[in-house]
Amino acid sequence: MINCKRFAESLAFSVKFQTVIATAALSISAGAASQPALANTLTQEQALGKALFFDKSLSATGQQACGSCHSASTGFTDPDKSHPTSKGDNPLLFGNRNTPTAMYQAYSPEFGYDATEGLWVGGQFLDGRAATLEIQAMAPFLNPVEMGNASKAVVIAKLQNGINASAFTAVYGADIFNNVDNAYDKVAQAIASYERSYELSPFTSKFDYYLKGEVKLTQSEQRGLALFNDPMKGNCAACHISDPLDDGTPPLFTDFTYDNIGIPKNYGSDFLTLDDEFNPDGTSFIDYGLGGVLDDEDLYGAFKVSTLRNIAITGAYGHNGWFDTLDQIVDFYATRDVKPQCTSSNISSTEAMLLGCWPKAEFPDQMNVDELGNLPLNKWEKQYIVSFLGTLTDGYSFAAVPEPQTWALMIVGLGGVGAGLRRSRRRQAKRAIQTAS
Ligand code: HEC
Ligand code: HEC
Repeated sequence: MINCKRFAESLAFSVKFQTVIATAALSISAGAASQPALANTLTQEQALGKALFFDKSLSATGQQACGSCHSASTGFTDPDKSHPTSKGDNPLLFGNRNTPTAMYQAYSPEFGYDATEGLWVGGQFLDGRAATLEIQAMAPFLNPVEMGNASKAVVIAKLQNGINASAFTAVYGADIFNNVDNAYDKVAQAIASYERSYELSPFTSKFDYYLKGEVKLTQSEQRGLALFNDPMKGNCAACHISDPLDDGTPPLFTDFTYDNIGIPKNYGSDFLTLDDEFNPDGTSFIDYGLGGVLDDEDLYGAFKVSTLRNIAITGAYGHNGWFDTLDQIVDFYATRDVKPQCTSSNISSTEAMLLGCWPKAEFPDQMNVDELGNLPLNKWEKQYIVSFLGTLTDGYSFAAVPEPQTWALMIVGLGGVGAGLRRSRRRQAKRAIQTAS
């Protein structure tokens, strides 16, 4: 979804308010609202949520569902790779951000501030402005550059007259359509419950089977993993945690914190060409990320650390889709502060690679220069990291696929998820310091 100033922000504001209130108390309820039911069947509510997630009739002209931009075929991202950001139900309109995967978002704790670490953590959207999956799921239906409905009442009327009406009343009762707000909340609840199901968090990548000792990595994948973890080489795991959580949940490849990694502006974004009504800033539009939501200049350009699960099939990369390939973004991590600045900012990542330069970051003053930007990786080592990232794609098939229940048994209560994540990062940081000193 979009920071589409005029329209989406009314929602963004209400979300922000809730967030700030939630934050004041600040014992992050570490995903209390996000206990994934990882049994490998869907509950009745989850099955309903799935039907709603893929129901195109709930958009303005019936052309778009959540699943249009979050397609299972591409790791719940946009299968249309011809634009860096997604088209709306109205195909002339585009969002300002690259569609992230909806997978594994069930593990993002409720948005909040971790005072111990001094970091904002969790939430939904790349700037965390929706505290939970439920709040997130209410937004796209009414976003003019997404599903484009005029009001909640319009969405509910469509649902009531559509193919999922009886499934909806079967789960929420015959009276549910009597009150639009209640019904709308339940739409979001059903969708969120589906997003917490095993279908969006299957843990069936080659790497998962490797962790269980059921398959070996190739030599380049193995080397890539070591480089990914090594604080003196790739240092990727400092933010994209590769350890299981304390409760046994397999690694999520994010700690759900926020960072500015210095991605350049994407002049190829269709959003820049939208008229005033949708993009009042025109080509000078710039995405403030978390800093915009919190009105905190230090956090300008900070976006949520992406999970790297399914990364090989979820391109383009970065919040504005500026990177076309994994080779490019890995090279960027290694050489952002080494290569000269391109003379023009208005170039693609492919052009920048050919020219051997990087364009200026959107927010250079706030970008992270401690953990990335100048990494001692040669061209083979960068390749190994890309090979390793290829092991994170779900649905790995080999002869004896194990019972999914195995993980389900290990995943007990999510109470410690947030804590586990943050501890991991601290551990990584400590490790980095020890190695450095
Ligand atoms: C037009 C394409 C489009 C449609 C339709 C769409 N989304 Fe998204 N989705 C996005 C984009 C783009 C973002 C990131 C927006 C942002 O950060 O502002 C996003 C973000 C999300 C996130 C948060 C991911 C994260 O990393 O924080 C979830 C969950 C999600 N969408 C679920 C849904 C659901 C549920 C629906 C249907 C009700 C839906 N989306 C409809 C494009 C779309
Ligand atoms: C300091 C924390 C940090 C470190 C270290 C880090 N990343 Fe990231 N990574 C992020 C953040 C934050 C984003 C999202 C940035 C954005 O979109 O502006 C991201 C995004 C990505 C993406 C794009 C994800 C997508 O869905 O578009 C890839 C790929 C990636 N990182 C790989 C790596 C690799 C490989 C390394 C090590 C060489 C690494 N990262 C090191 C924080 C980090």
